[in-house]
Amino acid sequence: METPLVSILQSLSQRKESPFYAPGHKKGRGISAELIELLGEKVFQADLPELPELDNLFAPETVLKRAQEMAAETFNAQQTWFLINGSTCGLIAAILATCNPGDKIILPRNCHQAVFSGLILSGAIPVFLQPEYDPSWDISYCFAPDTLNLALNKHPEAKAVLVTYPTYQGVAGNLLEIEGITHQKGIPLIVDEAHGAHFLFHHEFPDCALSLGADLVIQSTHKVLGSLTQSSMLHLQGSRVDPERISRALRLVQSSSPSYLLLASLDGARAQMDREGSLLLDKTLNLAKSARSQLKSIKHLSILEQSSYHGEGFKSLDLSRLTVKTSQLGLSGFWVDRWLGQNRNIAAELPNLHNLTFMITIGNSAQDISNLVEAFQALIQEVGQSAEIPLPLMPPLVNDILELSPREAFFGKSEIINHSLAPGRICAELICPYPPGIPLIMPGEKISQAQLDYLNAALQQGAIVTGCQDTNVETIKVLLN
Ligand SMILES: Cc1ncc(COP(=O)(O)O)c(C=O)c1O
Repeated sequence: METPLVSILQSLSQRKESPFYAPGHKKGRGISAELIELLGEKVFQADLPELPELDNLFAPETVLKRAQEMAAETFNAQQTWFLINGSTCGLIAAILATCNPGDKIILPRNCHQAVFSGLILSGAIPVFLQPEYDPSWDISYCFAPDTLNLALNKHPEAKAVLVTYPTYQGVAGNLLEIEGITHQKGIPLIVDEAHGAHFLFHHEFPDCALSLGADLVIQSTHKVLGSLTQSSMLHLQGSRVDPERISRALRLVQSSSPSYLLLASLDGARAQMDREGSLLLDKTLNLAKSARSQLKSIKHLSILEQSSYHGEGFKSLDLSRLTVKTSQLGLSGFWVDRWLGQNRNIAAELPNLHNLTFMITIGNSAQDISNLVEAFQALIQEVGQSAEIPLPLMPPLVNDILELSPREAFFGKSEIINHSLAPGRICAELICPYPPGIPLIMPGEKISQAQLDYLNAALQQGAIVTGCQDTNVETIKVLLN
C-alpha cells in the first residue's frame, strides 16, 4: 500500500460504530459547532486513538511500522521514527540516547533551545564551539571543521558531536569534513536538520546529512515539506547509536496518546515526496530564484548569497531561503516584518535585528512571489533609504565550557534580581528570542552587559523573548552566589 497510515485512517474514519474510547469527541459528535465550522467534520472522524488497527507509537508492529519503514527507504535511513512533538523531542532523544549524565557533548553555541532542554534533561556537559560570525549580516553560520578538531583534541572523552545543518537562514557548513573528524574519534554525529528535510529531493540543495554519513538526523518535516505542524522524523544509520536506546528516550519525551492526524500527515508527506518530490522542489526553487533576482534588482536591497561570505562555516546555501538585509535601509527586520504584515498581509519566517528571512516551500505560488516583490518595492518607495539606525551586533558567544552545567544551573538555588545587577552573575534560566529559538543567555552561563544590551535592542524593536520568567527581561533569575 502506498500510504499505510493514511489509508487505514481513511477506512476507520468512515466505519460505522459505537465508540467507547477516547478522544471524548467520538469522531466529532461531541465537538463544538465553532470547531466544526472552522475545520469541518472529516478531520474529527479521523482523529482516532491507538486502536488495534492503528498500531502503537511506542511499540509499532503493523501499519505504523510499515509507514516508518517506507519513510526510512525514502530518506535512505536504516531506521526512521515518526515524531509527534516536533524535532524538539527528536533532539532531546538524540542527546539522551548518546550521553549519560556528566558525559561531554560537542556542539555549536548557536543551536536551538531544544538542544539545551536535552542538556538539562540528560545532564550532559556541553563543550561549545564558536560558529563563524558575519558582522555584516549579524548572522552566525556553522563552525569550521578545524574548530571541531581542536575541541576534540582538547576533550577526547566527548561522547557525541551535534551540528545544526543548515541554519535557519539555510546556510550549510562543511558537514563532510565534520563527519570525517567526528568518526575518526569513533563517536556519533547528530545532525539537527530541522530545516533540511527537502534537501534529498533536489540536487541543487546542499547535500543531505544522511548522505554525508551522519548517524542521527532530526528533520522538521512540518517546516519544509507537506506535513502537519509538530510532525517530524528522526533517522538513524550505522551502528554507533543503539536504536533501542533511541526508542527508550522517545518514550520519555512523547505523548502516550499520539495524534494520528500528525502521524498520517508524515505518511502522506513521504508519499508525496516519493511521487513528485523533485518536480515540486524544482518549482519551488524556480520561484525562489525568481524572487531572489527580482528582490536583488531593487535598489538598496541586499539578499544573502553564497558569495556573501567566504569561510568554512558557509559551504553552501539553500536557495529556497531568502534573507534580506534591512539595517542598510535604516530599519530593523522586526520593523519591516510589521510593515509587511500591516500593509501587505505578508509574514516572514524569521525577523531579526538586522535582517529577515523568508521561507519558500512547495506550498508557495507565483502570486506569493509577486506580492513579496511588490511589497518590497512599495516599502522602499515609502521609506527610501533612511539614515542607518544604531543596532548592536550580536555579542560574541561564550567560552567553550560553562560555569555550571545547564542541568546544575536549572536545578540550582536561584533568586530573581533586577537586570541591571545581572552582569557577572550566573544565569539560572534560558533567555531566548523566538524565533529563531537560539538562546542568547542560557542556564549556567555568566551574564554579560553586551548580551543584555543586544537583548534590550531586540526587545525594543519588537522581538519576543521566551524561556524566562520575565519576558520583558526587566528581572532575571540568577543562581545564588
Ligand atoms: C534549528 C532548529 N532545530 C530544531 C527546531 C525545533 O523544531 P520543531 O519546531 O520541529 O520542534 C527548530 C525550530 O524552529 C529549529 O529552528
